[in-house]
Amino acid sequence: MNIAILVSGRGSNMKNIIDWVENQTDDKIRVSLIISDNSDAKGLVVARRKNIKAIFIAADPFKTKLSGISEEVYISILKKENIDLICLAGFMRVVKTKILKEFKNKIINIHPSLLPKYKGLNTHQRVLENHEKETGCTVHWVDETIDGGKIITQKKVAISEDDDEKSLAKKVMSQEHIAYREALEKIIQERKYRY
Ligand code: GRF
Repeated sequence: MNIAILVSGRGSNMKNIIDWVENQTDDKIRVSLIISDNSDAKGLVVARRKNIKAIFIAADPFKTKLSGISEEVYISILKKENIDLICLAGFMRVVKTKILKEFKNKIINIHPSLLPKYKGLNTHQRVLENHEKETGCTVHWVDETIDGGKIITQKKVAISEDDDEKSLAKKVMSQEHIAYREALEKIIQERKYRY
């Protein structure tokens, strides 16, 4: 299974996936490509230190959706590398239409809420404003909806009275890393004979 990871920032989920792959005994599972829409993404530096091909491909700064020529470039590079699974890990672009068609049932994403609740941005802020007692994270298949694809796995986090956005983000993040590993394990089990 040849994995590509798309990142826009820090890349802690990306690193978590790379570390998980490194610990697999099956050498057919590998991370062969990191792409970022942000030339300053720390994730690019982290990946290069691990000797993984990590490239910046600019996307339209006026659009949140990956589209036009940059989408074509993303697709052609992902195809050239024979990517089987694309992991979105803090990739701040909406992935729709063309790339979805080219990589049907091959794109997954992590979202910092218990989907279907709190789709979109600023999840922790909205969760706190609504005085929720729990939140969490979700790894899901990407489809044409935003954060609405089939759920692979979820992890819950209890919210305490004194939690703020920062403390909540930290708690959720530690569960994100567990969730991403669990999701990959599930996918590998389900698709064992296809790779
Ligand atoms: C994570 O909270 C993830 O759920 C969201 O973006 C954040 C990325 O963090 N989609 P990192 O770059 O993986 O550290």
